[in-house]
Amino acid sequence: MSKISLIGAGQIGGTLAHLIGIKELVNEVVLFDVASGIAKGKALDIAQSSSVDGFNVKFSGTDDYKDIKGSDVIIITAGVPRKPGMTRMDLLKINAGVVKDVVGNIKKFADDAMIIPVTNPLDPMAQIAYKTSGFDRSRVFGMGGMLDLSRFKQFIHEATGYSRESTKALVIGEHGENMLPLTRFATVSGIPLPTLLPKEKLDEIFTATKGVAAEVIKLKGATVHAPGNAISAMIESVVQDKKQVIPVSTNLDGEYGQKDVSIGVPAVVGKNGVEKILE
Ligand code: NAD
Ligand code: LAC
Repeated sequence: MSKISLIGAGQIGGTLAHLIGIKELVNEVVLFDVASGIAKGKALDIAQSSSVDGFNVKFSGTDDYKDIKGSDVIIITAGVPRKPGMTRMDLLKINAGVVKDVVGNIKKFADDAMIIPVTNPLDPMAQIAYKTSGFDRSRVFGMGGMLDLSRFKQFIHEATGYSRESTKALVIGEHGENMLPLTRFATVSGIPLPTLLPKEKLDEIFTATKGVAAEVIKLKGATVHAPGNAISAMIESVVQDKKQVIPVSTNLDGEYGQKDVSIGVPAVVGKNGVEKILE
């Protein structure tokens, strides 16, 4: 895979572009934003960091959709982020229009790309992207659970003191107040977490995972680094065909007894996008 376009070059888009460069995930990154100065300025700024880190990735910024032509993967962070005290669902009306418009242009200029929606509220935006694109569902999968999972594993590490690499865990369901960190299925090197921590601690981790985004937003106005990293991990599984099992928000067609809804489920993610949903 050689080209990724980021629709939305704001806080997450800019951070993600830099991560893609440092990890050299693709040959070319196009940053697109309606505020074209932001897209062009961030592309220049990141490109100017590449000579020190020595990463060979071409960056460009634009406000012209024709420049996304030939993209293999397109990430959508375009839209409005929530402010302290808001829920992700409060963004539904305003961001639904943005995502519909963005995906209409993706259809026009890059209709064989995979789409990774990030804009909130994530699950409805993933479903709007899926419906508007008319793409096979394997090519439209939102990032939400991967971020929740990274937080869940951090809290497990803080509670146990054991290395993050040894922890396997899963968060499914809504990327929102009703997410489900599955404490029962978490393990440390195959050892079930419930045998390592008391129920009170597990409940504390469950609640902390659901609420930490709002806490970060209250403190610094937005979550940026953890989301950017979670998206880059999903991109890596696609472009390196790693077939990692990742919680993604994708349209269900009978899985988990649900139809015609995008919600976080564990899926095998590889070069063909969502290759299998695991129940
Ligand atoms: P931001 O405001 O920094 O960036 C959004 C960018 O989108 C801005 O630069 C804006 O100019 C651009 N934009 C607005 N309308 C556009 C359009 N029609 N076409 C192209 N670009 C457009 O916000 P951010 O912090 O980068 O967050 C972006 C979105 O991601 C928000 O909706 C936020 O809630 C969401 N988010 C999702 C997750 C997740 O886990 N899914 C995590 C964090 C943030
Ligand atoms: C998060 C919100 C903003 O960081 O979606 O989880």
